[in-house]
Amino acid sequence: MVIVPANSETIARAAELLRGGGLIAFPTETVYGVGANALDASAVARIFAVKGRPASNPIIVHVADTSLVSTVAADWPDVAARLAAKFWPGPLTLVLPRRVDVPDEVTAGGPTVAVRVPAHPVALALLRGAGVPVAAPSANRSSALSPTTAQHVLQSLGGLVDMILDGGSCPGGIESTVVDVTSLPVRLLRPGLVTVSQLEEVVGEVVKVSRAQPHAVLRSPGLMDRHYAPRTPLELANDDGTARVGQLSGRVGWLTWNDVHGVAGVERRSLPRDAVGFAAGLYAALHELDSLGLEVIVVAAVPSDPAWLAIQDRLSRAAHRS
Ligand code: TXA
Ligand code: MG
Repeated sequence: MVIVPANSETIARAAELLRGGGLIAFPTETVYGVGANALDASAVARIFAVKGRPASNPIIVHVADTSLVSTVAADWPDVAARLAAKFWPGPLTLVLPRRVDVPDEVTAGGPTVAVRVPAHPVALALLRGAGVPVAAPSANRSSALSPTTAQHVLQSLGGLVDMILDGGSCPGGIESTVVDVTSLPVRLLRPGLVTVSQLEEVVGEVVKVSRAQPHAVLRSPGLMDRHYAPRTPLELANDDGTARVGQLSGRVGWLTWNDVHGVAGVERRSLPRDAVGFAAGLYAALHELDSLGLEVIVVAAVPSDPAWLAIQDRLSRAAHRS
C-alpha cells in the first residue's frame, strides 16, 4: 500500500527513498506536499511529470532549519532573517537569490529560489532524516484543489509516488504565504496563512502584486488565474447563498456558515465564521462536495476584511473560468 501511517520507522524509510531519488508525499501544517531531493534534477523532474505541472512553475524548497537555507540560497538579507525569526518553522515561504548549483527544475530557470521551514512534526522529521533540502509542491495534479489529507493525495496522484506518509489532516488547510525578499519593499506573491498585517509588523511596507498586472516573467505562477479549482463549476454568492441555492435546480452543492440553516435537497457543508477555522476546513469541504458529481457548488461570500485575503484569493481562483 502506498499510504502508510507516519511513524519513526516509516519516516526513516521515506527519508531513505528521498535520498535515492524517490518521491514522497508528506503532511505539512498547510497542505500535503510531494517532495524530492531538491539537489537531484531528475528526481525533481519526476514531480513535474506526476503533477502535470508546467515547467515554468518553480517549486518551494523545504529545509529543517534556518541554518540550511544556505544549501540553496546565495544570500540571506536582513529582512529575511527577521521574517524567519518570527515565522519559522511555519507557513511562510521566502523567495531569495538562488545558488547556482540548484537545479533549474526547482527554480524554473529563474534567478531565485523559494524556501521555507515547515512546522509539521512529520515534515521536520522527514527533512532531518533525509539530510537534503526537499523540493515539494502541493501533492495534487496541477491546477486542482490542494490535498489536506493523505486520502486526497491518493485520489489525485495515486500510485505515482513512492510513499504517502499519513499524518492526519493538515491543521492550517491552505498554502503558505509567499514573499519575495530579494528587493525592498518586500513583495507578497501569494497570500497565505501568515497575514499581511502579521508581515507588516515585522517588515513595515508589503507590496501586493496584483494578479491583473502582466509580468514579463511570471514571478509566481501562484498568480495564474485558474488554480486550486474543483472539477465541479463553482459560483460565489453575494451573501450566505441561501437565496441562490433556492433558485437553482438540479444537484446543487453549497458551502456556507455553520449558523445558516440548510435548504432541502441541497448538499450543504459548513464552516466557522473565523478566517483560521474557515481556512482549516475549506479544501476538505470542497473535496467532499466535488466528489458528489454535482452540477454546481455555491459558496457563501466571505468578509472583505484583510484577514480573509488568502481565502478570498483561493475562492476567486477556484471560481475562475478560463
Ligand atoms: O504551503 C505550501 O506552500 C505548500 C506546502 C507543501 O509547503 N506548497 C505549495 O507549493 O503550495 P506549490 O508548488 O503548490 O506552490 C508554490 C508557489 C507557487 O505559486 C510558485 O509559483 C511559487 O510558490 N514559487 C515557487 N518558487 C518560486 C520562486 N523562485 N519565485 C516566485 N515564486 C515561486
Ligand atoms: Mg499547489
